Amino acid sequence: MKKIITFFDAKPYDRAWFDQANTKYEIRYQESKLTPDTVGLAAGSDAVCAFVNDTVNAVVIDRLYEMGVRVIAMRCAGYSNVDFKEAYGKVSVVRVPAYSPYAVAEHAMGLLLDVNRKIHRAYNRTRDFNFSLVGLTGVDLHGKTVGVIGTGKIGRTFIDICRGFGMRVIAYDPYPAEDAGIEYVTLNDLLARSDVISLHCPLSDQTRHILDAAAFARMKPGVFVLNTSRGALIDTEALLDALNSGKVRGAGLDVYEEEAELFFEDNSGSIIKDDQLALLVSRPNVVLTAHQAFLTEEALENIAQTTLQNLDEYFADQPLTNEVCYRCDVGRVVEDCRKWRKERCF
Ligand code: NAI
Repeated sequence: MKKIITFFDAKPYDRAWFDQANTKYEIRYQESKLTPDTVGLAAGSDAVCAFVNDTVNAVVIDRLYEMGVRVIAMRCAGYSNVDFKEAYGKVSVVRVPAYSPYAVAEHAMGLLLDVNRKIHRAYNRTRDFNFSLVGLTGVDLHGKTVGVIGTGKIGRTFIDICRGFGMRVIAYDPYPAEDAGIEYVTLNDLLARSDVISLHCPLSDQTRHILDAAAFARMKPGVFVLNTSRGALIDTEALLDALNSGKVRGAGLDVYEEEAELFFEDNSGSIIKDDQLALLVSRPNVVLTAHQAFLTEEALENIAQTTLQNLDEYFADQPLTNEVCYRCDVGRVVEDCRKWRKERCF
């Protein structure tokens, strides 16, 4: 009998790529997000497939465990929405650690080019046959200093792109990449020296609001800020203040602190009650996309294939290559952890 996967927050593009890659599972696509209220939809399934804005908290994990679900396949890289300490010993959590660093890094550069050269404004103008250039002046990126926070797969790909533009690169990462030829500096130095700051670190207790009011105060006037990582890396109120004062010249955001209820859905017919989001969207020097940096054909194909391989490993009782574990996933190797002995975490 085919194993059943309940797939939450399913979108047409997910279905297309999963249906193409799937040969052995019965996938039950649910449009609802996974929450304590919707978790019951997983009754009778062997696995759950979830995404970035699903709620995978203790309540959800315990309900899944009661229902006999023993594996959650995250079809994304980030897992800040998963209480994986709660999951440890009950439900294995697997993810897709890398599906296309190019997709995200290229989108980050796209946001920078757009917000700097005001392409979104020019597009609106020319549609109305307004060919005025007033107010559209940007800066050369060549020769400017970009500060990259987090030099993992995406951060390093972004660095390569920036080098192609002739930008000077400095970076901050508590776990520097060896032999990458990157000039690492302290976070405070990065904030003070960068003309462009781009976030490529995961969201954790250490990185929540890594760009807060104090961080914005340290930045150069006229800095560009990019966030394609996780919304809560930036204190939105502090960003709005920095935009208002002119400290931040422009922001390119693919993620937003309170995006969970809004992003990935068409809210065009609703009154948005989130005033901070409304303020951000209203700023001409903010370009906001709705968590689409990953959205390329190559990435979607890799996501579907790796997610199904992760489930194959789980059901074949093999070690889980892409298991997330609160003991292992702390950004460094935990020597006594079973994962490094090529075993499952529990
Ligand atoms: P990665 O795990 O390869 O790299 C993350 C880097 O951040 C590591 O080098 C790590 O040492 C560093 N880091 C950890 N704590 C840090 C801290 N306190 N300060 C600075 N750096 C720190 O991850 P990858 O694949 O490069 O992804 C980065 C982030 O991009 C993910 O965590 C995810 O939130 C986001 N992402 C966003 C997508 C989108 O569609 N907008 C799609 C995929 C990922």
